[in-house]
Amino acid sequence: MLEVSNLSVYYGKIRVVSDVSFRVEKGEIVALLGNNGAGKTTILNAVSGLIRPASGSMRFLDKTIDDLPAYETVKMGLSLIPEGGRPFTDMTVHENLEMGAYAPGSWGKKDETLGKVKAFFPLLAQRARQLARTLSGGERQMLGIGRSLMSMPKLCMFDEPSYGLAPIMVKELFKYIKTLNEQGITILVVEQNIRHALELAHRAYVLENGRIVLEGRSAELLKNDHIQKVYLGL
Ligand SMILES: Nc1ncnc2c1ncn2[C@@H]1O[C@H](COP(=O)(O)OP(=O)(O)OP(=O)(O)O)[C@@H](O)[C@H]1O
Ligand SMILES: [Mg+2]
Repeated sequence: MLEVSNLSVYYGKIRVVSDVSFRVEKGEIVALLGNNGAGKTTILNAVSGLIRPASGSMRFLDKTIDDLPAYETVKMGLSLIPEGGRPFTDMTVHENLEMGAYAPGSWGKKDETLGKVKAFFPLLAQRARQLARTLSGGERQMLGIGRSLMSMPKLCMFDEPSYGLAPIMVKELFKYIKTLNEQGITILVVEQNIRHALELAHRAYVLENGRIVLEGRSAELLKNDHIQKVYLGL
C-alpha cells in the first residue's frame, strides 16, 4: 500500500534521514521505532508531502506521491495524526472534526462519517461544543484520530500517539488503533515506546540516526538482543 525507497532528507546541509526504505502492506500495523531525533517525524512529514525529500521515491496505492502536497495525499486516503493530535485550539471539538472532512470526496459524506466517529469515540460526542484548547492530552489524541477518520483514510500514520500520556491512557489509545485496523484501516505508527509499539504492530523497523538498523516481525524483534539491551533495558 505504501512503499518508501531510499529516502533521504536534509535540513540545510544536515542529513537527518539517510537512504531509508520500508513498506506497509494493506491491512498491516507497521511500527517505525526510534529515540528522540532519530528522524521519525521527518519521515512522516516527507510521506505526507509536508516537506520535500532530497532523494528517494514514495508510492501509495501504486501511484507516485513524490511531488504531491499534503492536501493531495489526504485526498488519496493517506492521513497523518500529528504528535499530540494538534487540534485547532480555538475551535470546538465538532468544528475540528468537520475540518477533517474538507476534501471534496469526504465532505459530501461528513454527517454519516461524523456519526461513525462519535460512535467510536463517545467522549468526543459529549464534548462536541467544548473548545479544543480545554481538552486533556488523551482527549486531544482522540480528537486527532477522529479528525483523521473524517477524511475517510485508507492508511493512518500516527506520530507518537503515546507521547505525554499516562500508561493507562496509552493502553486505551492503542486498543482504539487496533480496532481501527480490524475495521480495515492500515496503520503506520511511529513510537519511542518500543515495548507497547511492538505489542501492537505486526512488523517494525528500527531507526537510529536517520538509518534503518533492524527490521522484522514484532515477536522476533521483542526477542532481539540489541532491542532488549538498548531499548527495553533488559
Ligand atoms: N525544521 C528543522 N530544521 C532543522 N533541523 C530539524 C528540523 N526538524 C527536525 N530537525 C532535526 O532533524 C532530526 C530528526 O528530527 P525528527 O523530528 O524527525 O526526529 P524524531 O525521531 O521525530 O524525534 P522525536 O522522537 O524527538 O520526535 C533532529 O536532529 C532534529 O533536530
Ligand atoms: Mg518526532
